[in-house]
Amino acid sequence: MSTGPLLDTFGRVATDLRVSLTDRCNLRCSYCMPAEGLDWLPGEEVLTDDEVVRLITVAVERLGVREVRFTGGEPLLRRGLPDIVRRTTALRPRPQTSITTNGLGLSRTAATLAEAGLDRVNVSLDTVRREDFATITRRDRLPDVVAGLAAASAAGLGPVKVNAVLMRGVNDDQAPELLRWCLARGYQLRFIEQMPLDAQHQWSRESMITAEEIFASLNAEFLLEPAEEPRGSAPAELFTVDGGVGTVGVIASVTRPFCGDCDRVRLTADGQVRNCLFARQESDLRAALRDGADDNEIADRWRVAMFGKRAGHGIDDLSFLQPVRPMSAIGG
Ligand code: 5AD
Ligand code: SF4
Repeated sequence: MSTGPLLDTFGRVATDLRVSLTDRCNLRCSYCMPAEGLDWLPGEEVLTDDEVVRLITVAVERLGVREVRFTGGEPLLRRGLPDIVRRTTALRPRPQTSITTNGLGLSRTAATLAEAGLDRVNVSLDTVRREDFATITRRDRLPDVVAGLAAASAAGLGPVKVNAVLMRGVNDDQAPELLRWCLARGYQLRFIEQMPLDAQHQWSRESMITAEEIFASLNAEFLLEPAEEPRGSAPAELFTVDGGVGTVGVIASVTRPFCGDCDRVRLTADGQVRNCLFARQESDLRAALRDGADDNEIADRWRVAMFGKRAGHGIDDLSFLQPVRPMSAIGG
């Protein structure tokens, strides 16, 4: 049997697999998608539940993957999600499992997902003001997200993490308000610098709210101290708030890249391995699967795909080109 880790030429080993289960979404966040949505992948190109589980099995049993995160688009739109989670957590060694979701519908599914073995959730929430939520996501659904968060917490899918993206002139004045809201509910808030992954290609460095700006606005109201646990490969820099009433994280993907410690690998909903969010090349595992490749061959192709991983995302390089696929088709 072919075993061996997902190693690259810089000595990094990928143990954290992000699986996008659909490119569709029921929100239209302005930094992600245009109002009218995108051309979704045709159904026959999307991996079936069995195909997804087969690839995860190869990753866990032969490639040393220890953590599986389900993403989208919106992963809760995938009907087979509980079954995929159940089959993933039945693997040995049992991987840690989580989802990155916008929270819509989570109030109905949290208990089922927990029972299927899901360990944690990350919920995207950029504002707790209803009007601003409707502006940013183009849907008036804040109450559903709030209910989803509460249900996840009640179902034991914790620590519940909240991901927030700040945008200049939209919600950049709301960092302290978001933090207070999350602290009061026991959620771990993390701010993420906006990356050039929007389908509309409207990202600009000037409109991005930097980690430095986020710290400045939080420091005005809270005492932040570096949390003791080492950052390791986790992209969030973690801080304790006001002597320990909670923590807050900042993911400075653009201004303080953590590519050197990256332990991630991504699988798109149509079965393409991406060795980086910003990769310009993909490896087609779906074709291999459907051509009858055995697990050894799939594992070998996957290792080859990872070996070519670049040192970093290169957003600052003059030659930087945004990936062809937007975030919603790659998975967060
Ligand atoms: N930059 C940073 N974060 C983004 N997200 C979506 N698009 C971007 C972007 N361009 C966030 C979502 C979600 C996670 C998957 O990534 O808000 O929390
Ligand atoms: Fe949907 Fe997430 Fe994109 Fe918002 S950021 S439109 S929730 S995929």
